[in-house]
Amino acid sequence: MKGVLLAGGSGTRLYPITVAINKHLLPIYNKPMIYYPLSVLMLAGIREVLIVVNPQDEEVFRKLLGDGSRLGMRIQYAIQEKPRGLADGLLVAEDFIGDDSVCMILGDNIFFGHDLPNILRSAKEEVESEGGAVVFGYYVKDPQRFGIVQFDERGKVISIEEKPENPKSNYAVVGLYFYDNQALSYAKEIKPSPRGELEITSVNQEYLKRGSLKVKILGRGFAWFDAGTYDSFLEAGNFVATIENKTGLMIGNIEEIAYRNGWISKEKLLEIADTLRNTSYGEYLKRIANE
Ligand code: TTP
Repeated sequence: MKGVLLAGGSGTRLYPITVAINKHLLPIYNKPMIYYPLSVLMLAGIREVLIVVNPQDEEVFRKLLGDGSRLGMRIQYAIQEKPRGLADGLLVAEDFIGDDSVCMILGDNIFFGHDLPNILRSAKEEVESEGGAVVFGYYVKDPQRFGIVQFDERGKVISIEEKPENPKSNYAVVGLYFYDNQALSYAKEIKPSPRGELEITSVNQEYLKRGSLKVKILGRGFAWFDAGTYDSFLEAGNFVATIENKTGLMIGNIEEIAYRNGWISKEKLLEIADTLRNTSYGEYLKRIANE
């Protein structure tokens, strides 16, 4: 399975902060926002990732993450000329995906919760072995802002609607999608929505129509942030600071995950720690290496 990370978009909800800087490079407490979704792909065991970027931003992302070899990964970049929607991200990634399955994640989505690595790995394995799609539902208080999934009494999905005026439930589909290769053909067939975007909800609806969409619930013990507004951005940063300072364990530390996945050696981890000078981030990596 390949990983696709969407780091384009317009970021207008964070204006003026994002007039000159790409949203995904802003700090969520002690690391760039993009580390968090990248770490989710890594926790799923995905080693080959395409980052979809706006034309003017490729250089800075390359400066931050390079070709991924530092993490024992392969990271590539593709340019999305215009923010034409989340499903367009799949089309931009078409050559990269080839005939493989794909996990797509939104660059401003932050996940934290018990057993997340297992949940991610099972979703990946399920799509790889059985095909279809696995997405996740999360209870939210403002369902008008999201893609909303409706279940029957037995928990079977009966509808998915994008930003409904009258939501049929409070379960939002989060920005993390596991798809078989069919997603590419569905994305090609869909038409732009009234707001002019190729909606990922339309891709999910195609899977639903064919009876091959699974929606798993991330329970209330999970934290999910879409860090794209002033408040959610600040909340996400405060949340990460609180958890990290309480537990002494970091969230979204890509070098730690690469090391624990066996993708880089202890020596490499210590080498990276040295480049981070006297930061608590660097100290943390040293601690992990010497555990
Ligand atoms: P959105 O939340 O739809 O919005 P946005 O980041 O473009 O910003 P705003 O609504 O404030 O103007 O995007 C979700 C994520 O997907 C975000 O990380 C940016 C990314 N994205 C793309 O990479 N390409 C796109 O075409 C779109 C719409 C979003």
